[in-house]
Amino acid sequence: MGKVCVVDHPLVQHKLSMMRDKNTSSKDFRELLEEIAGLMAYEVTRDLKLEDIEIETPVATAVAKTLSGRQICLVPILRAGLGMVNGVQKLVPAAKVGHIGLYRDPDTLGSVEYYAKLPEDVTERSTIVLDPMMATGGSACTAISYLKSVGCTSIRMLALLAVPTAIERLNREHPDVDLFVAAIDPCLNDHGYIVPGLGDAGDRIFGTR
Ligand code: PRP
Ligand code: URA
Repeated sequence: MGKVCVVDHPLVQHKLSMMRDKNTSSKDFRELLEEIAGLMAYEVTRDLKLEDIEIETPVATAVAKTLSGRQICLVPILRAGLGMVNGVQKLVPAAKVGHIGLYRDPDTLGSVEYYAKLPEDVTERSTIVLDPMMATGGSACTAISYLKSVGCTSIRMLALLAVPTAIERLNREHPDVDLFVAAIDPCLNDHGYIVPGLGDAGDRIFGTR
């Protein structure tokens, strides 16, 4: 089963509380999301492989560490996942970005695919799926299934909030995928929103409602 890591760093928790506040502006919400994504990137990339290289410092020859192994592809789920890209890419500037467009049907809560564009070498990369919200878990699972259908074998999921049922679904459908979240909220309301959650992430990022 994939590991579930709750990133409980005080800075992440403080910023998440600010995001939850309904009075937080769209501008601040976007900035906080980007900052949290960057902070969480440390944990998501903790096990990246390193190799030794020899370099000349101004003082001496040194054996130093450099990243080796697979390069990274970030895969934001449109729209809300877009708000996490810059925060992670600042720390991993060589990461390529693929996009998967999904929206939730408001009646069935099922996810509907409308767009996908991935880098040509995506199957050689470690992919990190980005979406702040895992409510039913349908969007995350659909995006991961799509990545697998094109041949991706190394997939991680980075979200801000998930509910236990969504985590169970991810573990059931994709037991090979590790999940990183900032918090686990207890449940969904009758409209499929995470409680207490932070509302509609896409609308708050883009000011559409
Ligand atoms: C939101 C969110 C996730 C999805 C989570 O997107 O960003 O993608 O809902 O819900 P789920 O776990 O039940 O699938 P939404 O469908 O509202 O689209 P948007 O980002 O374009 O607003
Ligand atoms: N999507 C959101 O943006 N918020 C929720 O609470 C659930 C799904």
